[in-house]
Amino acid sequence: MGANDPQAAGKPATKRQFRIWRGDENGGDLQDYTVEVNEGEVVLDVIHRLQATDAPDLACRWNCKAGKCGSCSMEINGKPKLSCMTRMSTFTEDETITVTPLRTFPIIRDLVTDVSFNYEKARETPAFAPPPGVAPGDYRMQQIDVERSQEFRKCIECFLCQNVCHVVRDHEENKTAFSGPRYFIRAAELDMHPLDARNDRKEYAQAEQGLGFCNITKCCTEVCPEHIKITDNGIIPMKERVVDRKYDPLVWLGSKIFRRGQVPQTSVTSGHSSGAVHSSGGAGGQHSHAGGSHDPQAELQAQKGVNWHREVPHPTAPAVDDRGKLPLTELTFDRAAAPSPFGDDVTFPLPPEHLNFAHPDQDKH
Ligand code: SF4
Ligand code: SF4
Ligand code: FES
Repeated sequence: MGANDPQAAGKPATKRQFRIWRGDENGGDLQDYTVEVNEGEVVLDVIHRLQATDAPDLACRWNCKAGKCGSCSMEINGKPKLSCMTRMSTFTEDETITVTPLRTFPIIRDLVTDVSFNYEKARETPAFAPPPGVAPGDYRMQQIDVERSQEFRKCIECFLCQNVCHVVRDHEENKTAFSGPRYFIRAAELDMHPLDARNDRKEYAQAEQGLGFCNITKCCTEVCPEHIKITDNGIIPMKERVVDRKYDPLVWLGSKIFRRGQVPQTSVTSGHSSGAVHSSGGAGGQHSHAGGSHDPQAELQAQKGVNWHREVPHPTAPAVDDRGKLPLTELTFDRAAAPSPFGDDVTFPLPPEHLNFAHPDQDKH
């Protein structure tokens, strides 16, 4: 029984109105279509029917049609959703359904966007760090620890949360300093991991990933198709624990004894200012930026764009003291997050030669 087989459904097919964004990075417009819809279909079925009938060149990305690959993300009537999980029965029969590409990421064509931003942030997130001397296969964890982080491991990387977050949705300039909710839960997951030897995940999220710019609007949680409680179980506990440490009386005392200028800056602050970070949501908006050392090598590296075809520099790891903690100064002042290890001059959309996937050249087809 195929989705295109009207006999498969009980009710006869109906004609429905669709308005779909067509275009590329040079611009585009909404185009109207009238298309047949059968009982039990989802929005992706209708897009496939349009490709088979009125719009054979309509571009959209999909793989599993089962809500598991995370590739069919788009905005349906303005709300970020998986098109393969959005049932046509959730709309009234006289409703015009508007489908647009994800707004936060640069357009490639029609409903397909360049989500490289997320892969850059993934590479910047420090990887799982097993304790030295424990070989793979020798890792042992209690079931309770497996279950604690299981919620975050359900992420299908659809990037709907990244797309809806106001910190970057309307502020391209914030992308350098802000990793986004998907990578905050990655940090939270690793922070809960009993075998992760890094014990500065929260501080790193605050200092390097822009955790401070999140003002807990919970939009990310609202759109997550895996129902991950991104804010309640990931972001808020991390924020609370960063604050706990920041207002720890001993840390406070240390900040009084060592004034900022007296403690040497470390590699956490490598000196490239990403500028003020703007936030339409308010509370997370303005932060002062702490200065750091000016490393000519790092300056030179920062001038290079991201090129996924070459070896990229490893993400900058923060220096920690002999207790594995970030230096005191890192915890006692606000800053606008650190520079991207890929350089501050990355602009979107990335030029085609910097993309690591086949970018079909329409002129050749
Ligand atoms: S809760 Fe934070 S991360 Fe989530 S959408 Fe709002 S500002 Fe962004
Ligand atoms: S956290 Fe949820 S919304 Fe965000 S990428 Fe993962 S599955 Fe998608
Ligand atoms: S096609 Fe895989 S999640 Fe929709």
